Amino acid sequence: MAGFPAVTPELPMDRYAVIGNPIAHSLSPKIHARFAAQLSDPVEYSALLAPLDGFAGVARAFLDGGGRGVNVTLPFKVEAFELADAASERARAAGAANFLARRDGRIEADNTDGAGLVADLVVNLGASLHGARILLVGAGGAARGAVMPILAEKPARLVIANRAAARSRELAARFAARGPVEACALDAIPGQGFDIVLNATSASTKGEPLVLPEAAWRGAPLAYDMAYGPAAEPFLSAARLRGARASDGLGMLVEQAAESWFLWRGRRPATGEVLAALRAGAA
Ligand code: ATR
Repeated sequence: MAGFPAVTPELPMDRYAVIGNPIAHSLSPKIHARFAAQLSDPVEYSALLAPLDGFAGVARAFLDGGGRGVNVTLPFKVEAFELADAASERARAAGAANFLARRDGRIEADNTDGAGLVADLVVNLGASLHGARILLVGAGGAARGAVMPILAEKPARLVIANRAAARSRELAARFAARGPVEACALDAIPGQGFDIVLNATSASTKGEPLVLPEAAWRGAPLAYDMAYGPAAEPFLSAARLRGARASDGLGMLVEQAAESWFLWRGRRPATGEVLAALRAGAA
């Protein structure tokens, strides 16, 4: 008797998501789709909008419903850290998480932002952090996540400058045992010169001017804004006017995604072609 051909039921794809508010313009689904294609490792990666007071519910529903992991973006990174049952050292140092994974029934948190920043600076922009004089502007969540990964590269000096000087002092004190970190107010930036100036304030994304004293630009540094696209332009054009090389944070976004992918799936995507495609608007 002629039977029907055997049908192998397709295995459901592993599911991931990025959660934020707003989320519609997130590039993460495109980046992860490119990683999946590059590695022939199909996954489903979607963007989920959580209400401002509803992050935990959305994240838990996704992970309890079989989702393997989530990336977390503004404004939920601290809540993501608090939601987790366990957290990596770098997430604990940042007090925030942009990465959650469901493992053995537990929710584990990590923070791949700082590693993404360092990878972009070193690999994509060819900057050496070892022995460098680095100015980190800002003392909020974005800056906090960057301090430990930067100090791990053994810079000669890391100066954290913030509008509210008390916040930068608190941040520097917290990491003092890990390297040569010091703090100052924005208008008291030391004038010996820097190799790298990092903007980790929220001024760019809020469309506010960030005025740095001329001392910040001594040494013709590489200027880097953790925001990307048009939001980063005012800071970067001010830097270029003072002779600095300038980069936005698009590479950091791609690199933190690659680090997330590696943690979830055990293989490291090649980031150069993905970053080039995004820059060309082809993604
Ligand atoms: P995030 O998590 O994005 O870092 P945050 O924790 O609210 O957000 O921190 C915002 C950072 O940007 C702070 O360092 C803030 O400086 P203050 O601590 O003095 O508020 C900084 N910031 C925001 N707008 C700024 C502006 N217009 N000029 C200078 N610094 C600014």
